[in-house]
Amino acid sequence: MNLAVIKIGGSLLEQKRFSFWVKEISKYIRKQPCVIVHGGGKEISSLSQKLRLPVRFVRGRRYTDSQTMEVVEMVLCGKVNPAIVVQLGRNRVSAIGLSGRTAQLVLADRVPSLGFVGKPTRVKTEILRSLLDKGSVPVIASISSDRGGNALNTNADEMASAIASAMKAKRLILFTDVAGILDGSGKTVGKINRTIRKELSKKGILSGGMIPKVESAFRALQKGVQEVWILQGSSPLKKARGTAICQNENRAPRHPFA
Ligand SMILES: Nc1ncnc2c1ncn2[C@@H]1O[C@H](COP(=O)(O)OP(=O)(O)OP(=O)(O)O)[C@@H](O)[C@H]1O
Ligand SMILES: [Mg+2]
Repeated sequence: MNLAVIKIGGSLLEQKRFSFWVKEISKYIRKQPCVIVHGGGKEISSLSQKLRLPVRFVRGRRYTDSQTMEVVEMVLCGKVNPAIVVQLGRNRVSAIGLSGRTAQLVLADRVPSLGFVGKPTRVKTEILRSLLDKGSVPVIASISSDRGGNALNTNADEMASAIASAMKAKRLILFTDVAGILDGSGKTVGKINRTIRKELSKKGILSGGMIPKVESAFRALQKGVQEVWILQGSSPLKKARGTAICQNENRAPRHPFA
């Protein structure tokens, strides 16, 4: 399907130029079927700290105890999701806010070592298809559901990757706060394949949130998505810098907003 899954990192919302960025991405979304997934890592950490709850990450994934799970849901579904939906609406995008827990849209298996964290196992694509058919754009907060309907915190890149694979999307674009994967000297790695990935991992260059991001990118490719981009959420969009990860390693990928 000619679908793009676009993931918005939580930190982008804090940028002064966020509303300008949404205006630009809306032009793309109005022309091309899209599903949006978002995180909210920085906001969750900041509210957790105010509430004096521990903030802990294990290889880039948040350890989520039951109180933190409540904070995650409040921040993502109560603040970040409506903020994105409203901004898109102002730009003539008919956005519909959901989480992976809505109608058990994204089912996940719990990862007990991380507390209330889920790894997506199934996406109810029919829900997304019926929204897309009506010209609506699903905007999905990165929380999934266990079989009993309980909330599980899910890394937003993993969620976007699972949705892109299940929907047979052509393209997965992960917008973040850095210019893609940076090498040891802080330079953007323009294109990455398995060999380069191994090298970067061996040198310890990938850390924190970049670990699940790169894993999610390669998993999406493995499951049939043609190209994945890790791009800086800066504007103008056509100059957004970042890393391409392609199915065909020999092909020079075309910038999605060029
Ligand atoms: N080699 C690397 N290149 C670029 N960024 C890296 C690298 N290693 C670690 N990082 C970190 O990864 C971060 C991006 O992941 P992070 O999870 O923090 O944000 P996000 O995924 O965009 O947002 P959210 O988690 O809210 O969805 C960067 O801000 C940077 O600190
Ligand atoms: Mg992240």
